Amino acid sequence: MYKIEEFRKKIDDYLVDSYKNREPRGLYEPIDYVLSDGGKRIRPVLCLMACNLFNENVEDAIKPAVGLETFHNFTLLHDDIMDNADVRRGKETVHKKWNENTAILSGDAMMIEAYEQFFSLSPKILAEVLPVFNRTALEVCEGQQYDVDFEEILEITEEEYLNMIRLKTAVLLAASLQIGATIGGALKEEAQKMYNFGIAMGLAFQLQDDYLDTFGDEATFGKKIGGDIIENKKTLLLIRAIALNKEEILPLLSEKDESKKIQDITTIYKKLALDKFILQKIDSYYKEAVEILASLSIEEEKKLPLASFLFQLKTRIH
Ligand code: IPE
Ligand code: IPE
Ligand code: MG
Ligand code: MG
Ligand code: MG
Repeated sequence: MYKIEEFRKKIDDYLVDSYKNREPRGLYEPIDYVLSDGGKRIRPVLCLMACNLFNENVEDAIKPAVGLETFHNFTLLHDDIMDNADVRRGKETVHKKWNENTAILSGDAMMIEAYEQFFSLSPKILAEVLPVFNRTALEVCEGQQYDVDFEEILEITEEEYLNMIRLKTAVLLAASLQIGATIGGALKEEAQKMYNFGIAMGLAFQLQDDYLDTFGDEATFGKKIGGDIIENKKTLLLIRAIALNKEEILPLLSEKDESKKIQDITTIYKKLALDKFILQKIDSYYKEAVEILASLSIEEEKKLPLASFLFQLKTRIH
């Protein structure tokens, strides 16, 4: 069994100079900028851990894992344009450092590179894994569309929100696990359980991202605190605040002074104890993930890296 850090290193080693010498630099330099340095590598590590649950040898899963990380980073380039985000991982976003056209085209190239990595698989495994990846990639687009649509809709239900974050975020974590397990030789039902585990983890993960976007520390989180508030993102925080105190929240949604908007809305969240409410939700989804993990018919010892990974995510500040 490998350790989490060893998996992370395998991905980092692969990506550190993959794009250093490719031309034209206008296309590849932003890709190198985003891929070679930074990021928690959650999706590729999940893929490798899932593979390792069923197989001592994880070599076949490395390129697909790199593909998953490349795909994830492609979504970030486009997401940052869509969200008007200027900072990621404590650095300027690609569209800010270069321009929007660069972020669009380098992002497109990354998606193609992501697919390319999957073709290292045997035809039999590829035939199982590619439909999962394709469906997931399209679901991420669907989630992103709901995310943007919801900015303009005042009343979103918790159910609609959960569906949106399942699509934009959870399915990619889940598919990373399912794909890794499949490459490792898992039976279909086992790979499906890994997927379900990933959905619960992914919902907790996005709820936590939304929590940190308001209540995190900019220095460690690496993104601008209050970005979701500025964009009227229908996070569960805002959904609950609208449901509980519409009169006070409504005028603030069109407030032009950004720091006043962030401050006033955060104050309302705190007054309504929504920080605690969200933390409880996050906890309940992590618990669900732990239960699914416990139900897997795999030796307990083999589950330990996934259990400790869950704990790392739960206690994250970035
Ligand atoms: C950011 O994902 C986008 C979300 C789904 C919240 P991560 O938090 O995994 O981003 P990096 O790759 O570690 O920076
Ligand atoms: C991102 O959600 C989901 C995808 C990139 C597909 P967010 O917009 O909340 O992610 P961050 O906060 O910018 O990382
Ligand atoms: Mg964003
Ligand atoms: Mg977004
Ligand atoms: Mg976010």
